[in-house]
Amino acid sequence: MRLDKLLSHSGYGSRKDVKKMLKNGAVRVDDRIVKDAKEQVDPDSHEVTVYGEPVNYQEFIYLMMNKPQGVLSATEDSRQQTVVDLLDPEFLRFEPFPVGRLDKDTEGLLILTNDGQLSHQLLSPKKHVPKTYEVHVEKPIGQAAAEQLEKGVDIGEGYVTKPAKAVIQKNENGCYRLLLTITEGKFHQVKRMLKAVDHEVIYLKRLKMGDVELDPELLPGEYRELNECELAALKNKRHSDHPSV
Ligand code: URA
Repeated sequence: MRLDKLLSHSGYGSRKDVKKMLKNGAVRVDDRIVKDAKEQVDPDSHEVTVYGEPVNYQEFIYLMMNKPQGVLSATEDSRQQTVVDLLDPEFLRFEPFPVGRLDKDTEGLLILTNDGQLSHQLLSPKKHVPKTYEVHVEKPIGQAAAEQLEKGVDIGEGYVTKPAKAVIQKNENGCYRLLLTITEGKFHQVKRMLKAVDHEVIYLKRLKMGDVELDPELLPGEYRELNECELAALKNKRHSDHPSV
């Protein structure tokens, strides 16, 4: 990769700042002063130092966010706030993007990363990565509807959803809730599934993706880096067709 990219991704400022540092002779690659921003370096085999200090290059970033309602799952938008707008500059240098989308009015677990391969794996329809949602509906929901959701429902255009898991929760404070686990990611899928069984979703929150659960300590809008166990779970897991959670 280019030397200026490696340095700016490692927290040494913008490409312009890095160019100045290079011009000043502050940067060495394997003890050789390098002034050319375009120099190609391999962070695994070259030792890069700035004013004698070794550069710790981190290629990827993995964040879990509790996405708040009212914010778009996008990297930028000319009018509306996006999940990337909520990140501190120290994370922005990695150029993270959300893995998939939650609707503007949906909250909960959203992974942000710059690892395109992992994102692709998590979103690939072939991988059947389960996603669990807390769903609130406008009226009591019965076992028959839950069974229909589990078997598959027609959500329009002749598309019938794959097997899912639907667990009705105890009614609390007049709030009718279920946990729904699906292995697909069709547009507005949960809302369309509930509509197919004559219910309206009034609140939706994603709790889990693969084996990674939303940290209950994170308030809406808060985020943190994934820990090693969470990252390993996200990267290694093979998922079956039929969610059993
Ligand atoms: N299904 C929906 O309908 N909306 C979401 O945001 C996620 C899943």
